[in-house]
Amino acid sequence: MTTTYGLMVGSGWEDLSKGDAGTEAETAFGMPSAPVHRLQFGEHHVLSLARHGDRHTLPPHKINYRANILALKKLGVTAIIALNTVGVVSSVRQSGEIAVPDQLLDYTWGREQTIYDGRRGNVGHIDFTEPFSGELRSDLLDAARRAGVDCFDGGVYATTQGPRLETAAEVDRLERDGADYVGMTAMPEAALARELEVAYACLAMVVNRAAGRGDVPIHDDVEASTRAARTATMSLLENFFQAV
Ligand code: HPA
Repeated sequence: MTTTYGLMVGSGWEDLSKGDAGTEAETAFGMPSAPVHRLQFGEHHVLSLARHGDRHTLPPHKINYRANILALKKLGVTAIIALNTVGVVSSVRQSGEIAVPDQLLDYTWGREQTIYDGRRGNVGHIDFTEPFSGELRSDLLDAARRAGVDCFDGGVYATTQGPRLETAAEVDRLERDGADYVGMTAMPEAALARELEVAYACLAMVVNRAAGRGDVPIHDDVEASTRAARTATMSLLENFFQAV
């Protein structure tokens, strides 16, 4: 079976979801954040969806994650590469670098987080021991190697509710819990993809030291680091789509 790839693009990547006019893909859970755009990566058609909307109008806790994943699935996507900007909690990475995490912690609340919502007896319990697709992760890491991009293999992504950033004490707690990165959107996205049997892996762009960890204000760190993380991500993706 051939794989159809989707990109779930995050903050600052809205230009990656401007290939064409886009397809409005209504789902049983409502409308996704934006039309689904078709992008060309070399020979490859990739379907792209901006999780915060095409004009970045949706904060993380207002995103209809169920509609987003289902819309991509309905359009034929079988594997999703999620681009997530994160802060770094531990010392595995520096601002401006990238990583492919291998585990998740979920601190979000009040989000529609499952398709198994008990309606009409709809109950199910996915195995989520390994939250990301091993195959997709290793394809991403291979692409990084070929592209000569320094990309860390693994680490724990903690998903917080946002939209505010964390307090220093919250970041201390995340570190005690085993987190390496902190972001606001990998959950429930990854779990919904698993429920809908779509392969899913996260390409994390570290844009700041998490609260209480850096020696410059967080927004200055983001400003200074985003370009390097973006450049690394684009080289990785171009290489990835050359090979698949
Ligand atoms: N915390 C939560 N989400 C984020 C951060 C952070 O420091 N940086 C980018 N997304």
